[in-house]
Amino acid sequence: MTTNEMSIEELPGIGPATAEKLKDAGFNSIEAIAVASPSELANTAEIGESTAVKIIAAARRSADIGGFETGDAILERRKSVGRISLGCAEVDRMMGGGFETQAITEVYGEFGCGKTQIAHQIAVNVQLPVDKGGLDGSAILIDTENTFRPDRIAQMVNGLSKRYDDDFDPEEFLKNIHVARAYNSNHQMLLVESASELADSLKDTEKPVRLLIVDSLTAHFRAEYVGRGTLSDRQQKLNKHLHNIMRFGDLNNAAVFITNQVMSKPDAFFGDPTKPIGGHILGHTSTFRIYLRKSKGEKRVAKLVDSPNLPDGEALFTVTYDGLFGEEG
Ligand code: GTP
Ligand code: MG
Repeated sequence: MTTNEMSIEELPGIGPATAEKLKDAGFNSIEAIAVASPSELANTAEIGESTAVKIIAAARRSADIGGFETGDAILERRKSVGRISLGCAEVDRMMGGGFETQAITEVYGEFGCGKTQIAHQIAVNVQLPVDKGGLDGSAILIDTENTFRPDRIAQMVNGLSKRYDDDFDPEEFLKNIHVARAYNSNHQMLLVESASELADSLKDTEKPVRLLIVDSLTAHFRAEYVGRGTLSDRQQKLNKHLHNIMRFGDLNNAAVFITNQVMSKPDAFFGDPTKPIGGHILGHTSTFRIYLRKSKGEKRVAKLVDSPNLPDGEALFTVTYDGLFGEEG
């Protein structure tokens, strides 16, 4: 029996009432419990921490999570890693084929540099078949700045139709992009739980969730946490949020795309004007980091500044009415 078929009630120590509380909080699979922290689980289910530790251990045994993995097992898991092409040759090459699943890609840069444009484009591209650079999947977008534009999606889909001499239907693409607005940082964090439920319900459909976008990851945190005294609170919450997001990517074999701003003017609190917000916690949790900047006209430069296995590099692309295009088509 796979853990997918096993329900959380079958774990020792979980009665119906506890199961209910856990499910309400988004812990609705053995895998989700296996990677939870004891305090998180104890608080959620209102049980003692020692009970939580036992439940997590049992879930890990069932789900085969938490132990050491041999290199060949990791190689096997990595075989399921997919990549979403941006459709811009230079950027795709720089990224080793595209935006990876089971990884977080962070793009940071000043206003108007194209972060939200990339988010729109990959929400479209993830739906394409694999031979066209997609993953046959759907996308979830947590929109914190109210910048999602359905008409922009339609332009991009029509752009793809021209590119592939095909007849893609913008309406169909819009149906596979699930958007939620986040009104503040707490709401934003809760939406990751809702995203997990949604991903579970789409798991066995034709378009499983293969992409989670948080645009912008940091805007609410930045606005809400002002003043030095709150800096560590902010970092702690951001850290927790990022780990939940990473877990989403791992459990769903989904790519995670987050955007981040830089300071437009020097600021004693947030520091260096060319540095991304969020500091080193974000730096260490993101798997790939891209610094985006404007070039001439609609041209943009994407610079890979951090990656576990790829050389740093720069790539050019252009924002057009039909979507994002590479210099080489
Ligand atoms: P912030 O969220 O403000 O930090 O910026 P961002 O990095 O998300 O910028 P965004 O992706 O929203 O980029 C906006 C820019 O994309 C605009 O200034 C235009 O240059 C470009 N853009 C957006 N739509 C179009 C379009 O239809 N055609 C063209 N040519 N450019 C567009
Ligand atoms: Mg934006």
